[in-house]
Amino acid sequence: MSFDPHKISRAELFDFHGVSMTHFYTDNWENVQNFQARPDDILIATYPKAGTTWVSYTCTSLDLLYFGQTERQTSTPIFDRVAFLESTISPLGPGKDLADNLPTSPRLIKTHLPVQFVPKSFWEQNSRIVYVARNAKDNMVSYFHFDRMIRTQPEPGEWSSYFHRFMEGKMVFGSWYDHVNGWWKKKQTHSKLHYMFYEDLSEDTGREIDNLCSFLGLYRSDEEKKRVASGVQFDKMKNDDTTNYSTHCAMDFKISPFMRKGKVGDWKNHFTVAQSQQFDEDYEKKMKNSTLQFRTEI
Ligand code: A3P
Repeated sequence: MSFDPHKISRAELFDFHGVSMTHFYTDNWENVQNFQARPDDILIATYPKAGTTWVSYTCTSLDLLYFGQTERQTSTPIFDRVAFLESTISPLGPGKDLADNLPTSPRLIKTHLPVQFVPKSFWEQNSRIVYVARNAKDNMVSYFHFDRMIRTQPEPGEWSSYFHRFMEGKMVFGSWYDHVNGWWKKKQTHSKLHYMFYEDLSEDTGREIDNLCSFLGLYRSDEEKKRVASGVQFDKMKNDDTTNYSTHCAMDFKISPFMRKGKVGDWKNHFTVAQSQQFDEDYEKKMKNSTLQFRTEI
């Protein structure tokens, strides 16, 4: 089963075991659930638009080797270097097959699955997992623009209706609230889960790279870490065809770039004062039993 870029069309949302999904991420479900993780796999898990590509590229830059080439030499796009586990939207075939055929070790695999859907072999093999969370408002704005430009997602419609849909959790991969909280809860019992925040990466990329290296058990010199921190800055990634998705067949860059703004707090350019207030009230109710804290000063 491989994705035919000539037959791209916007998918419908449907309820999949209590989570909104589209067929692009469930078509290969049995194979995904039976995926054989390895102990040295690194799984990058996120709610869509939380900084997956940023952390993926950071990990590949730290890892350096790909087909015997250094990260700096490779022209392979990031979406072919890091296998998107549940996706069937790739000319190279489903993400699960891509993962099986990755030439690197450790393999880098990404997923947007809510924690309860992660193939059990990742837990059995005790693979390392890096989860990245982003504050809900910026995450929503980024997702809105992404849904406008990628031709496989359901039509986003107007911002005002999207805003409500996000709060209701009727998004591809389900509710942001359930996603970030589900993974946060898992972190309390699973020591091989490193929970990161987009806002922290933005504040101090070097510090976050240090933490990532400790978690991954990687020794890298200060000079090397500095090189990586500088290489993963927004403008560099935006201008690099291997990281800006410019060669991805399902995206329409006339509508929006994939590397859009890369800012913390861009939600202020989208939310009205009334929307922000309504959102905050709803947020408080939904998050009241959670110990998960996002930055309040955004
Ligand atoms: P914006 O739409 O707010 O610009 P994902 O990779 O999970 O799809 O997330 C994409 C979001 O991460 C986009 O957010 C993108 O610009 C941002 N992003 C990617 N690389 C980044 C970087 N190096 N620095 C800051 N933001 C980055």
